Amino acid sequence: MTRLVITCVLLCLSTVSFAHEGAEGVVKERMDRFKENKKAMKAIKGSLSSDTAVIARKASEIEAWAEEMVNFFPGGSSQPPSEALPAIWKEFDRFTDLASANEKAAAKLKNLAQSGADTSALSGAFRSLGKTCKDCHNDYKE
Ligand code: HEC
Repeated sequence: MTRLVITCVLLCLSTVSFAHEGAEGVVKERMDRFKENKKAMKAIKGSLSSDTAVIARKASEIEAWAEEMVNFFPGGSSQPPSEALPAIWKEFDRFTDLASANEKAAAKLKNLAQSGADTSALSGAFRSLGKTCKDCHNDYKE
């Protein structure tokens, strides 16, 4: 009996610490990916009038992350140091729509860059993309 209790306690403890580690893992991973997003936006900004290849590549990275980002927000994963707000899980459909808008805006910029659009068109698409980041942060990030 004692052995059974000890086994159970050990099993339970390992499950708890595993869940905790997992949550930290996903929070850390998405924070890192968003930091990459910021770097990508900076690289695009610096290339608007000079390098459509960089714009297309970085916009494509942003598009790819936008497509999968909602999978990195499992229910209630807002523990510190996360800046994710609980509203995400109350309005997950809207959160998903904002990620889609981000994905579409990134795809549009990528396509423009690939088709050799001029700086003014690229700048406009870049601003629209930046707005989709902000739209989500306004409601769902601290
Ligand atoms: C659909 C919502 C959504 C979109 C779209 C979005 N973000 Fe975020 N972003 C978040 C949330 C939520 C967090 C907080 C994540 C956390 O801390 O757990 C965040 C965090 C960040 C961070 C902070 C990362 C850190 O830990 O230092 C940066 C930088 C960032 N986003 C940049 C961007 C950029 C640039 C774009 C657009 C290209 C973008 N995000 C698009 C929701 C979004």
